[in-house]
Amino acid sequence: MSSQVKGTQVFNDAKRAGTVFSDEAMQTVQKIIKRYPEGKHKSALLPVLHVAQAEFGGWLSPETMDYVASILKIQPIEVYEVASFYSMYNLKPVGKCLLEVCRTSSCWVRGAEDIVNYLEKKLGVKEGETTPDGMFTIKTVECLGSCGTAPMLQCGASFHENLTFEKVDTIIEQYRSQGKQRSYTDLDYKNTL
Ligand code: FES
Repeated sequence: MSSQVKGTQVFNDAKRAGTVFSDEAMQTVQKIIKRYPEGKHKSALLPVLHVAQAEFGGWLSPETMDYVASILKIQPIEVYEVASFYSMYNLKPVGKCLLEVCRTSSCWVRGAEDIVNYLEKKLGVKEGETTPDGMFTIKTVECLGSCGTAPMLQCGASFHENLTFEKVDTIIEQYRSQGKQRSYTDLDYKNTL
């Protein structure tokens, strides 16, 4: 089967399975793709994966990655390789709010471990787990470049810095009351990616 026929088939399968970008997301994807010359669409992979992750529930299923491959006219394995390399892409479902707590030096000496323990106790799940209501996942990550305001965590496009237990309470309360999925693309990705 030619790669073009295969791409069409994946696209049709994705459509049947509901893995299809909304019109708005597709416009964004097309805008991203246009930045690169014909035949170099693979260069758009990272930002397109961000859009896909935001669009399809905060993680990249094999179906989503196949769909992205069909849009960029590349092999699915090329998408899997990239998606599995970067920790910012989730290959299994996560909560609507992925709480990424930095555990590297500055944050560590400024109490990151206490923050993780506090989160675990407050949410009733361990690091790497998701709350039963699907709202929060706790994850520890390496330096997020905000060492001067340690300890800190990232949730979607937002940094929460100089964390204290009280701040953690406020963050959880806010996110819970808003109840929506948080993504790296929250900052108007239409213009910034
Ligand atoms: S050490 Fe935590 S942001 Fe750099």
